[in-house]
Amino acid sequence: FGGLAAAGFGAFTLTDLIVNDDFDSITDKFRSKLPEAERKHRPKVVILGTGWASLCMLRKLHTDEFDVYIISPRNYFLFTPLLVGGTTGTVEVRSIMEPIRKYCKRSDSEEATFIEAECVSVDPKKKTVRCVDNSTVKGEVSEFDLQYDHLIVGVGADNQTFGIPGVKENACFLKEINDTRVIRDKIIDCLETASYPGQPEKEIDRLLNFIVVGGGPSGVEFTAELNDFLQSDLLRTYPLAKRIKVTLVEALPHILTIFDKKIIDHVEKRLTSSDNTRIWTKTAVVGVKEKEITVRNDKKEESQVPYGLLVWATGNTPRALTTQLIKDIGPSHQNNRRGLIVDEYFRVVGTDGIWAIGDACINLQKPLAQTAQVASQQGRYLGRLFNHMAEDMNKQKIENAKSLSSAIVTTVSTTAATPLFKENQDFNDKLKNQPIFKYRHMGTLAYIGDHQAVAEFKGDSTTTFEGYFTYYLWRSVYFTKLLSMRNRVLVSFDWLKSTVFGRDVSRG
Ligand code: FAD
Ligand code: NAI
Repeated sequence: FGGLAAAGFGAFTLTDLIVNDDFDSITDKFRSKLPEAERKHRPKVVILGTGWASLCMLRKLHTDEFDVYIISPRNYFLFTPLLVGGTTGTVEVRSIMEPIRKYCKRSDSEEATFIEAECVSVDPKKKTVRCVDNSTVKGEVSEFDLQYDHLIVGVGADNQTFGIPGVKENACFLKEINDTRVIRDKIIDCLETASYPGQPEKEIDRLLNFIVVGGGPSGVEFTAELNDFLQSDLLRTYPLAKRIKVTLVEALPHILTIFDKKIIDHVEKRLTSSDNTRIWTKTAVVGVKEKEITVRNDKKEESQVPYGLLVWATGNTPRALTTQLIKDIGPSHQNNRRGLIVDEYFRVVGTDGIWAIGDACINLQKPLAQTAQVASQQGRYLGRLFNHMAEDMNKQKIENAKSLSSAIVTTVSTTAATPLFKENQDFNDKLKNQPIFKYRHMGTLAYIGDHQAVAEFKGDSTTTFEGYFTYYLWRSVYFTKLLSMRNRVLVSFDWLKSTVFGRDVSRG
């Protein structure tokens, strides 16, 4: 009943605070809409990505004021906080995906154009992006260039591998929808293969040695989910499952270093309470082969560890597109390894008309964590900022038209042929009157297995929670943050189904 309880509880908790933070001063009713004659000159806004930052911006943006294009290799939004549950079947992946086209058309006048393609390069001088079709089905046209007035880079981040040889070829990752399918399949495959008659003991041990690299929130949540899957479902189905060993490997002295010490101690104790799970801290993975990894401890001693499943969760690195853009802009403006340096309005430093939000950017004055919470607030802020700018420009245009004499009106109507926002300078000047972004931290939550979660809220002092109540808080917060009723219903059923009938252990 976990899902339903969470659903009920969620309805009364943080919904208004987190989901409906619509403190926009411009409402549709009182908006000074762009004069009809100007509509064809709407500034062209190209948004890259369909993740947290980009979608939150799109949902806020008044798409009748701008000519909006969304470019992304995936035509859906992925609700990442519940992604780990997809690796074991606690939730089904379709339940946490949202088709992006659903958000492109709000009314006849409010429409954005989605194109499923990957942006491979940006030309900041010509103000164009080059996009290619990287899907399996290709038509005669599979590449195109698109002009922009404003480019929003919301491409997120890639998996960090630190260039360690063999990681990309042999490890599973925790980022995309397909990663969950690969991991789920591999867990079961390891068990089926270990169950072959005559399989040598040593090989069974290797196949059932599951390694998770990285003791950040992703690695910890995955270890917790895997342990749940093992205790609740695999032990019932596979006689050999009791031989599974799950090892969480972390280079630092502790896991979950972003959390308070009290939480760290609790999680370390909790995760190792089962005989099947262990944590190796002060241990770095330095090499990966098809069937074994090389680990190095703090005394610089190296050893080989055979594995059946290897899951890599050692954080983020900028995507190839972001790295290329950083290089093209040049080291005098862009020199940060985490992403594109932006100012307080998310303008990419050293460019004109390029903005970056979410995991792809960093503000050096106020660096923030790379989380959905941050990305969504940044996206919403930028959407509102663009709306305010459009509103300002429209008001000015309407007022000018009303107050000027007919002779001047003639001049105005002549100038009306010049695009309103084409000059980004105009836009930049007006920006100075706008409020800058302020991040509101709502707390950090993480699932730690066996119906337990941890939460940390930072104010003047740090407050921490752990245990069953926190688990329902964790579920209800993410439940309310799911974007649609459809997703909420599907996730509730998934939670109910996995609680009552157990998780599915078939492959495919
Ligand atoms: P993303 O959401 O990653 O979106 C990037 C988008 O850009 C995608 O649509 C991608 O397809 C697209 N794209 C990529 N390359 C290109 C290109 N070349 N051209 C065009 N489009 C491109 N955060 C929390 O706050 N709470 C959590 O509980 C939480 N749990 C997480 C669990 C996991 C397993 C993971 C991996 C992350 C989790 N996070 C969580 C972090 C959170 O998901 C990220 O910080 C967030 O997704 C960043 O949003 P974004 O929009 O910048 O990037
Ligand atoms: P992370 O950067 O938070 O943690 C990665 C960990 O891997 C670090 O502790 C690092 O010391 C360790 N590491 C790196 N190289 C290693 C090696 N070779 N061997 C062993 N250990 C190594 O990365 P994570 O967990 O992937 O998270 C990425 C982002 O997503 C973070 O910003 C995180 O806050 C966010 N996130 C938030 C969640 C939540 O709020 N519940 C859940 C999941 C992710």
